[in-house]
Amino acid sequence: MTYIVNDSCIRCKYMDCVSVCPVDCFYEGKNMLVIHPDECIDCGVCEPECPVEAIKPDTEPGLEDWLKLNAEYAKQWPNITIKRDAPADAKDWEGKLNKITEFDPEPGEGD
Ligand code: SF4
Ligand code: F3S
Repeated sequence: MTYIVNDSCIRCKYMDCVSVCPVDCFYEGKNMLVIHPDECIDCGVCEPECPVEAIKPDTEPGLEDWLKLNAEYAKQWPNITIKRDAPADAKDWEGKLNKITEFDPEPGEGD
């Protein structure tokens, strides 16, 4: 198994998760992060750190598409291990549904 990031992260991108990952397996897109499924050691420490509950174990039902997206973009986006500030309008995007329409495939800055 692995943990994955879902669309609750999009445009919130709080980055509390990157500070706690013992194997540095988060990768940064323009407006969300993903987890590399082959690098994640399933420790689970990142899950409660996310203020918008965007991190889930892939054993939860209905996350197949998000597992694929995490695996695909973890290969393309830069590694991120140091927390930066969240987007200025992050609060406005908390709890919004179907944020996949806001997904941006462009890479983020990385460390
Ligand atoms: Fe990193 Fe552990 Fe979260 Fe996997 S479950 S992304 S290893 S902190
Ligand atoms: Fe995203 Fe939550 Fe991390 S909003 S950047 S998964 S702390």
